[in-house]
Amino acid sequence: MPTRKKSAGSSAKRPAAATDGAPTAVYPGSFDPITNGHIDIIRRALRVFPRITVAVAYNPNKDAAMFTPAERVAMIQRALADVGDRIIADSFTGLLVDYAERIGAQVLIRGLRAVSDFEYEFQMTMMNRHLKPKIETVFMMAGEQYFYTSSRLVKEVATFGGDVRNLVPEFVLDRFAERIAKSKRDKKRS
Ligand code: PNS
Repeated sequence: MPTRKKSAGSSAKRPAAATDGAPTAVYPGSFDPITNGHIDIIRRALRVFPRITVAVAYNPNKDAAMFTPAERVAMIQRALADVGDRIIADSFTGLLVDYAERIGAQVLIRGLRAVSDFEYEFQMTMMNRHLKPKIETVFMMAGEQYFYTSSRLVKEVATFGGDVRNLVPEFVLDRFAERIAKSKRDKKRS
């Protein structure tokens, strides 16, 4: 496949253009880090869409994330290695709808857990629709075992030594352990 030029604000190679008439779909999020809930949504979405770009959103001016965008992209690639090129992990900064337009995506995928997600998702969908009326948002319902799983809670629990096994892939547990050990070392030094 020919190498394509990177576009501004995104870090990975561009997804191959859909040649089979299927819409190009983007699953955006912070993914700090990817959880088993995200993976569940992606695997469900792959039953509907032939290829999905999983896009890590970041803001270089105010990103209080635990992992860098490149680390988050690498974790997504590793967690979904078995699906091959049906998934492309990428990162972007700026507006999601502008990113979607740049890569030729017509569909945004979002996951819904409980009713409490609805208000936030509804606002985002309406704002994105206001910005780019031709881009549709499609919602996938997470498996019930993931209704309480969020990156924010998983990070908090892991930071205080709680058990987050089964909520994130095994290798993410190791990344948490490394990060926590590093922050302890940094604290001792300062
Ligand atoms: O994982 P999250 O935090 O639920 O994902 C939210 C995300 C990244 C999809 C949203 O914050 C986003 O789209 N950010 C990019 C900037 C943008 O387009 N903001 C306006 C959204 S209406």
